[in-house]
Amino acid sequence: MPTYNIVLLPGDGIGPEVVHETRLVLEDLAPAFGFNIQFETHLLGGCAIDATGHPLPDETLAACRAADAVLLGAVGGPKWSDPAASVRPEQGLLGLRKGLGLYANLRPIKIFPQLIDASSLKPEVLAGVDMLVVRELTGGVYFGPRSEAGEQRSEVGGQRSAYDTMVYSAEEVARVVRVAARAARQRSGRLVSVDKANVLASSRLWRTVTTQVMAEEFPDVELEHQLVDAMAMHLIRRPADFDVIVSGNLFGDILTDEAAMLAGSMGMLPSASLGSGPAGLFEPIHGSAPDIAGQGVANPLAAILSAAMLLRHSLGQESAARAIEQAVERALQAGYRTPDLASVAAPDQTIEVVGTQAMGAVVREYLRSIPN
Ligand code: IPM
Ligand code: MG
Repeated sequence: MPTYNIVLLPGDGIGPEVVHETRLVLEDLAPAFGFNIQFETHLLGGCAIDATGHPLPDETLAACRAADAVLLGAVGGPKWSDPAASVRPEQGLLGLRKGLGLYANLRPIKIFPQLIDASSLKPEVLAGVDMLVVRELTGGVYFGPRSEAGEQRSEVGGQRSAYDTMVYSAEEVARVVRVAARAARQRSGRLVSVDKANVLASSRLWRTVTTQVMAEEFPDVELEHQLVDAMAMHLIRRPADFDVIVSGNLFGDILTDEAAMLAGSMGMLPSASLGSGPAGLFEPIHGSAPDIAGQGVANPLAAILSAAMLLRHSLGQESAARAIEQAVERALQAGYRTPDLASVAAPDQTIEVVGTQAMGAVVREYLRSIPN
């Protein structure tokens, strides 16, 4: 029986609550699918700053490097968000992505039919939405040269200024495009690449390299280029037209929050960050939600669905991944909703509003009834 080593990084805010429920799901499921999981828990983000002074302690990075996969809750919160602070929780997350070489961030946006009314968009616009955004994660303006000390004073006139730089190398573009193109090949055979090539030099490189990689290595996948501003519009006007989308770090960050709103609640969306090997970092795309932290009302489903991605991408346990996804769907079908989704039900459906733990328990109960 294989034993997998999984590092848990509960982080801040609602992170610990949703990670706890996810751990229980994995613990329940592993023996039924013929494997063992060993968990180790480490500090990342604000809680790590409080305990050690650093958002990403060396010990955490070392444990993650040695793990088969990492499951993260969320980082950040008002306690650590003073713009003048020299250390911030988010630096821990960025350092982890970079330190593990996780250059491709997969964010599937799929609408659960039971939740279609949770979106602010009309159901007819949303019908059939099922897309995968592949965001470049370790380059671009997030990691380019910047004014390290925050703001600077220029020599002339003493004006205050600060800068960040968007830099992409051809290889950084090529490798993430390959990830997206392979996904497109397994899905619809279509890929949309998003950039701002009418203004930015780094985007012109992005476009040239993407065109070249696709022509040479993926002639069977249809490629379309979109400018990021137009893409922001298309995403809410005709979201069902898109399948796989690839973009740089910042544009991907923005577009995935927008795309998340198609699905209604951030509470439902998982993500996977992958590098050149199978080990990856899996996290719900929602944040730490400090306003509801510690109340037992956070929606654990995005974290639980992130565990499904972990099983699929890092452990190769596809049937266990599917079982989790089916159990989540059954819980929704049966009418269970955390408060973020409390108002969403079909006209003929009775819903039951439950907290974090009860939702986790319902998923585990359905899991037991799904044959492996
Ligand atoms: C995300 C988040 C992060 C990012 C923050 C927390 C640093 O918004 O994962 O989308 O910008 O990448
Ligand atoms: Mg974001």
